[in-house]
Amino acid sequence: MCIRSMSSEKKHNKKITVVGSGNVGTTTAQLIAEKNLADVVLIDIVEGIPQGKALDILEACPLWHSSSNVTGTNSYDDTAGSDVVVITAGLARKPGMSRDDLLHANAKIIKQVAQESVKASPEAIVIVVTNPMDAMAHISQNVTGLSRNRVIGMGGVLDSARMRSFIAMESGAHPKDVQAMVLGGHGDLMVPMYRLTTIGDKNITDVLDGPVIQAIVDRTKNGGAEIVGLLKTGSAYYAPAASTVEMIENIFGIKNEILPCSVYLNGEYGIKGVYVGVPVKLGRNGLEKIVEVELTEEENRALNISAEAVGELMQKLGMK
Ligand code: NAI
Ligand code: 2OP
Repeated sequence: MCIRSMSSEKKHNKKITVVGSGNVGTTTAQLIAEKNLADVVLIDIVEGIPQGKALDILEACPLWHSSSNVTGTNSYDDTAGSDVVVITAGLARKPGMSRDDLLHANAKIIKQVAQESVKASPEAIVIVVTNPMDAMAHISQNVTGLSRNRVIGMGGVLDSARMRSFIAMESGAHPKDVQAMVLGGHGDLMVPMYRLTTIGDKNITDVLDGPVIQAIVDRTKNGGAEIVGLLKTGSAYYAPAASTVEMIENIFGIKNEILPCSVYLNGEYGIKGVYVGVPVKLGRNGLEKIVEVELTEEENRALNISAEAVGELMQKLGMK
């Protein structure tokens, strides 16, 4: 009789807490487990939901050959010692709402969950997803007192993935051959960088006509609202979760990419004192490097206008 040895797959020495077990949170937890990246703790204020969702994901792990331990809780004690905390807790958009409409309600939630999470996991890198994301990342950094390299917002990775999808649809190229980057705040004034967009070894302007490119830029800016308009009861979560996990894979050193992430700028790109999306390198220390690409005057102006809009939100919150 052949007795199979215990799996050679090592138990995880990494732990990720996902705060908020709604659509984005549970899909993020699912992807982490499916990719066997870490143990996952899902936490929410609603009793039973994180426990039930976590158990459901855990029961899929044998099918994914994953050794991730997935648990659900309502207590921050269970999240202690996490390497990464992903914050998705808060309200999501409904049709007719902008991300900024969520400002005050989510600010209150973020203050509480960021403080509790970091108290339990003082060494964690914090990824903020909750909208309006750039402002929520700023609040998280402010209330926890963590250095700017440890609190990073997710928005640009999602917006860039959307732009790449739309370009692939219009050009017929494989999405993996399309490179695009969206900078600025994760809001209506985001800055899709079509000048630096490539399809294979060609610039986008060599493949697609001006009006098609403009339509792609507009659709990208409106990408979140397009999904909200279709779903009617909430906002996107598959691509947001995949974007968050892309950031985690870079933090863990599994991937080594330049990603557009929201970070606190201290003079880079001529912007100071706000969180806004710029190209960065992530790694074990969170934000490892801000990559300063040369922008045209027009791009620079658009990035600054987008940053000013985030600054206005911080003013509304009395934080600027
Ligand atoms: P959802 O409504 O499905 O889930 C939110 C969860 O947060 C709920 O389970 C709720 O019980 C929980 N929650 C509320 N207050 C809490 C607290 N104090 N402590 C712990 N949990 C709490 O919403 P969804 O779709 O998961 O979206 C979450 C947030 O992420 C929203 O603000 C949404 O706008 C944002 N978002 C941001 C994206 C980005 O690119 N930055 C992309 C997609 C969503
Ligand atoms: C999105 O872009 C709502 O921010 C969220 O889908």
